[in-house]
Amino acid sequence: MTKESGGFDQIDQWKSTMFLYSSALKSINTKIEILNNEFIQLYNYNPIEHITSRLKTPESIVKKLKNDGCEVTIENMVEHLNDIAGIRIICSFMSDIYPIADMIARQADITVLHVKDYIKYPKTNGYKSYHMVVTIPVYLSEGKRDTKVEIQIRTIAMDFWASLEHKIAYKFEGKAPDYLERELKSCADMVDMLDMKMFSLNQAIMAVEEEERR
Ligand code: GTP
Ligand code: MG
Repeated sequence: MTKESGGFDQIDQWKSTMFLYSSALKSINTKIEILNNEFIQLYNYNPIEHITSRLKTPESIVKKLKNDGCEVTIENMVEHLNDIAGIRIICSFMSDIYPIADMIARQADITVLHVKDYIKYPKTNGYKSYHMVVTIPVYLSEGKRDTKVEIQIRTIAMDFWASLEHKIAYKFEGKAPDYLERELKSCADMVDMLDMKMFSLNQAIMAVEEEERR
């Protein structure tokens, strides 16, 4: 085999690998939409505010493999990286997070590989979010391929905080000045308070609605 055809083989392998991840995203997106729509049907309530998804760019795949001391190969990226396909579920209330996570985990064809619960155990910087790495089967003509997807579940307020924190961390390459870190931490406390207030307001509204139905 010539050197050139080896390169083309790799491009093909790259394309078919990324096709798997984008198919996995589609499939998970549909599942989550169905769950949300079922909730609207049954309870006239949508636990999910919105969903975003993304495929990791080739640049950040290479960067992460190098940072982790791995040789840059397609095998290593499939084996080592959990977040090539990523989906973020944004909900209105804290109380929606665990039920959504449970509904996803209960799906028969989804396998939960691991969970990081930064809701129960927030990071010291104030980051809160529920993370799951799952596999979902993608059905190709030659058979089924279980494919990894990283799912992040958080409230609108937590997401607002995480976006700005990410921007700041990126700007300062991970080490922001102390005063910014302190400010971010105090914003995270405000986010907590807002989430709790919004939750109890919503509970109060639901209680009134329940009363009216009787
Ligand atoms: P990464 O190597 O950063 O992907 O982390 P990990 O493999 O240890 O997994 P973890 O579940 O901790 O983080 C996965 C993803 O969550 C990250 O890629 C970010 O998108 C997000 N994340 C984790 N920690 C933070 C944080 O402190 N701030 C923000 N804004 N996002 C975070
Ligand atoms: Mg990541």
